[in-house]
Amino acid sequence: MNFDAITAARLPELLCAMPKAELHMHIEGSLEPELIFALAKRNKVRLRYESVEALRAAYAFTDLQSFLDIYYAGASVLQQPQDFYDMAWAYFQRAKADNVVHAEIFFDPQTHTARKVSMRTVITGLHRACVDAQSQLGISSSLILCFLRHLSEDEAFETFEEAFPFRDKFIGVGLDSSERGHPPEKFERVFKRAAQLGFKLVAHAGEEGPPAYIWSALDVLHAQRIDHGVQAVHDAALMSRLAQERVPLTVCPLSNQKLCVFPDLADHNLGHMLDQGLCVMLNSDDPAYFGGYLNENFLQTFAALPLNAVHAYQLACNSFEASFVSEAQKQVWRGQLDECFKQFGC
Ligand code: HPA
Ligand code: ZN
Repeated sequence: MNFDAITAARLPELLCAMPKAELHMHIEGSLEPELIFALAKRNKVRLRYESVEALRAAYAFTDLQSFLDIYYAGASVLQQPQDFYDMAWAYFQRAKADNVVHAEIFFDPQTHTARKVSMRTVITGLHRACVDAQSQLGISSSLILCFLRHLSEDEAFETFEEAFPFRDKFIGVGLDSSERGHPPEKFERVFKRAAQLGFKLVAHAGEEGPPAYIWSALDVLHAQRIDHGVQAVHDAALMSRLAQERVPLTVCPLSNQKLCVFPDLADHNLGHMLDQGLCVMLNSDDPAYFGGYLNENFLQTFAALPLNAVHAYQLACNSFEASFVSEAQKQVWRGQLDECFKQFGC
């Protein structure tokens, strides 16, 4: 492949056009303020904010917790299966525009069951949108159930039990919410149970928390992907292991910027991780809150860092490599990626 054919001027166009998978996106984080207000009206929920503009103005975060407080409040408007469908369908339309061919989507059932919204409501609404995304947009997808790590492991077990009747509608379990003070070890038994039942395992680790949390996500939870993982750069032995085992890290640059994990996008360590041979790829995390969907993450990150067409190709390839699909399917997507680069003269 002749990557030199891509001039800096054409790079943004290539970033947008290339096929890609998204592996770290919380569906509740795709809820745009306009939809929050529409659903609040539909369900007669009172919001703390007067208007879409007032809500958006509150999106000035200082750390993960300051975001989570607003994110959980926003999700309170979701009540009926149709609400979950509408939210996910809106995401899929945005994903289509960004040439996302595959999405593995997180959902936080405890945020909803705590408000007496049933697991059936949550999963059936989301699943119907996934089915329609395949048939109407050609996007394949799967759901990953996340446990809220600020809650107890017993509560995670209860949630997992409640979801079990719908086990054919999600492929794995994850761990999200407030990281500091809630190490992966807290969820060792529930992850072990999920593994025994054949579920894929992922966990947020090393977003704000220390490298030790990445070690234990790997060694105690046996997570197959690490969500975020950017703090790994502070531990050389961990970096070697991640590179050697090609443990995927689902990196989310705009999220890291908005939650002040890095002072500025120009300080992000994505380029360093790529150059160290890590299996990293880009993701939007909570796009409605962090200022952009997947292509916006690509555009802003490439504008801020010294990254080129080789990096773009690696990121797209890594997104396919790290996805939970068959080798044959990955091969199809790599073919589409090569085709796209060829159209740009590579
Ligand atoms: N980190 C932890 N929990 C989350 C996030 C995140 O970035 N987004 C939604 N829940
Ligand atoms: Zn996340």
